[in-house]
Amino acid sequence: MRQLKKKRPIIYPVASGKGGTGKSTLVSNLGALLARKGNNVVIVDCDFGGSDLHLFLDIPETVPNLSDYLNGEITDLRQLLLPTCVKDLNIICGGNEMVGIAAVSEQSRKNLIDKVIELDADVVFIDLGAGTALNTLDFFSHIKSGILVCNPEPQSRVSAYGLLKNIIFRYITNSFRQNENIQNTLADFVAGPGRRNGRILDLVDKIDKIDTKLSDQIIENLKSFNLRLILNRVRRRSEIDDIQILVNLVREFLSVELDYIGFLRSDRIVLESCQKRRLFIIDSADAPASIDLTRITNAQF
Ligand SMILES: Nc1ncnc2c1ncn2[C@@H]1O[C@H](COP(=O)(O)OP(=O)(O)O)[C@@H](O)[C@H]1O
Ligand SMILES: [Mg+2]
Repeated sequence: MRQLKKKRPIIYPVASGKGGTGKSTLVSNLGALLARKGNNVVIVDCDFGGSDLHLFLDIPETVPNLSDYLNGEITDLRQLLLPTCVKDLNIICGGNEMVGIAAVSEQSRKNLIDKVIELDADVVFIDLGAGTALNTLDFFSHIKSGILVCNPEPQSRVSAYGLLKNIIFRYITNSFRQNENIQNTLADFVAGPGRRNGRILDLVDKIDKIDTKLSDQIIENLKSFNLRLILNRVRRRSEIDDIQILVNLVREFLSVELDYIGFLRSDRIVLESCQKRRLFIIDSADAPASIDLTRITNAQF
């Protein structure tokens, strides 16, 4: 009999420049919403050193978890899948006990990404740590898509921009590991214009002088990035307009499209549910934040 090719899940790494923007809140509640809509969803806590995704779902027992997998005690990632209170929403917990796993080797990161891609699910969300840790950069750079969570403060936009710049740069670096000429050009760019407000197009121009085919390829590949942006904790309408500042900056300087897919209002219900370790989308479906998240889900997922 002809073997049917296994369907790969849609993978969304979720990251932010600053901590506390609402990544874990969104991963857990968005995961629950999509599970309720009939998808098989897995949420994976890859915020090494700061794992708390299980606490949003009141899961007391997080063993076995990713630290058991990364230190080799568990060899099959699927053994880490735990059910949650929501049907068809499963979780892979991170491990906080071992501070050592915060510095995961390159090979382990690559292996983890490969195995996550093979999970038997419709949708996988990967909750990542804030900032530009290589773990976050490599998830985005390999999967070439993901969700950025940003708050309305200018500081949050600046760090989101910094994260994206690092993601794009990491992607270009990973693409040309074997090409010494290009690695030297990249190193010059990092030491010079890249530290200030150098545009990716300036870098591509330099690469063009070495190899026109490669520079064309980079431009093409950057076009196929699927980067989405959610604005969380909105208090005023003007804050929604301001997010275009980030979108425009990313287009102009990084040559990628950041697709702004919607906002969630700042809502005390979110905080209260978090304190109770419950999902606001289930307990308070009519709350402003639930209405906002449902709108995003229906339109974009
Ligand atoms: N829309 C919102 N309104 C009010 N509080 C929020 C909202 N989104 C997140 N929070 C609160 O912000 C805090 C940080 O959220 P969390 O998801 O843990 O951030 P991160 O995972 O990015 O560090 C939590 O206490 C959470 O309840
Ligand atoms: Mg978190």
